[in-house]
Amino acid sequence: MFLSRQGFSRLLSTNGSSVVRQSIVSSSALIGSHRNLLSTSSSSSRILKESYKNIIVETSPKGGNGKICVIKLNRPKALNALNDDLFSDLVHATKSIDNDENIRCLILMGSTSKAFAAGADISEMKNKTFEQVYKKDMFAEWQEISKLSSTPIIAAISGYCLGGGNELAMMCDIMVCTKNAKFGQPEINLGIIPGAGGTQRLTRIIGKSKSMYMSLTGDFMDANEAYTSGLVAKVYEDYDELIKESIQMANKIASKGPTSLRAAKEAINAADELSLQEGLRLERRLFHSMFATDDQKEGMTAFAEKRPANFK
Ligand code: CAA
Repeated sequence: MFLSRQGFSRLLSTNGSSVVRQSIVSSSALIGSHRNLLSTSSSSSRILKESYKNIIVETSPKGGNGKICVIKLNRPKALNALNDDLFSDLVHATKSIDNDENIRCLILMGSTSKAFAAGADISEMKNKTFEQVYKKDMFAEWQEISKLSSTPIIAAISGYCLGGGNELAMMCDIMVCTKNAKFGQPEINLGIIPGAGGTQRLTRIIGKSKSMYMSLTGDFMDANEAYTSGLVAKVYEDYDELIKESIQMANKIASKGPTSLRAAKEAINAADELSLQEGLRLERRLFHSMFATDDQKEGMTAFAEKRPANFK
């Protein structure tokens, strides 16, 4: 008996040093934990709502293989500015999707070609006081997106991807964009600084000098530079191609083994947090634990039998 996705999550929701100790827990015990998780998951917070006010959730997108989902940020008149209501919709929907074993990849995009998101909602922030934003720990909740551990997320960007929009995209696992995409951290023009990861994640991705340039001048980066800087993995012609190609990419990801996907996501994201030695050790432990999974059995058996793998 091998590990299910949630069972495996129990095994891996630990730092590298305790992975070994955890791994001696029998897989059947972990599968038991999984069932408990599912039985308590009937709470409404774990289930997608019929509809949301500020986002569109497509559970069967055209061209999808039944295992992927698309979320479109949908405040087009405000260029999808991220207000509290939108973000609370987004956190609810993404957590529900992350908790659904049948969804293996998620695409996050804007509902029109003009914007992924033009940042946090300035009109909502304008009159706030220090006490209010500090007590609320403003934007702390946004980090929930980066903590989703099961489902790989593709940020598919067309048009403006600014401030909190860029920070949200960087919380996802893969960024792709159209030729018209514009990336920026223009908070400096508002007399503030990025507050949801722009000084940290962007610096890790594109390096200090370019990150400083963007945050100190507020200038935008185009798609070509975003690609050569490693901010995005692919550049597509236009919004239609972005949707089509992102769905193809999501289908491909969703066809892989769910546990190996999860482990790869965890190991790569850990590279931002750990020293090289800690990261290499975590990678090895995760690699070792793959040998307790259906994914490894099926993947290697399929290779030996010269047939495509059929991951469950
Ligand atoms: N918040 C609230 N509303 C916004 C917005 C934002 N971040 N960005 C755009 N909008 C609104 C505009 O107010 C405008 O609304 P009205 O039609 O009601 O006036 C509508 O969206 C269309 O915007 P523009 O008319 O300005 O469109 P444009 O094509 O001329 O310019 C733009 C587009 C360059 C993106 C410009 O809108 C802009 O500079 N937006 C602000 C970008 C920004 O500063 N983002 C950072 C926000 S702070 C932040 O994100 C902090 C953080 O770290 C989380």
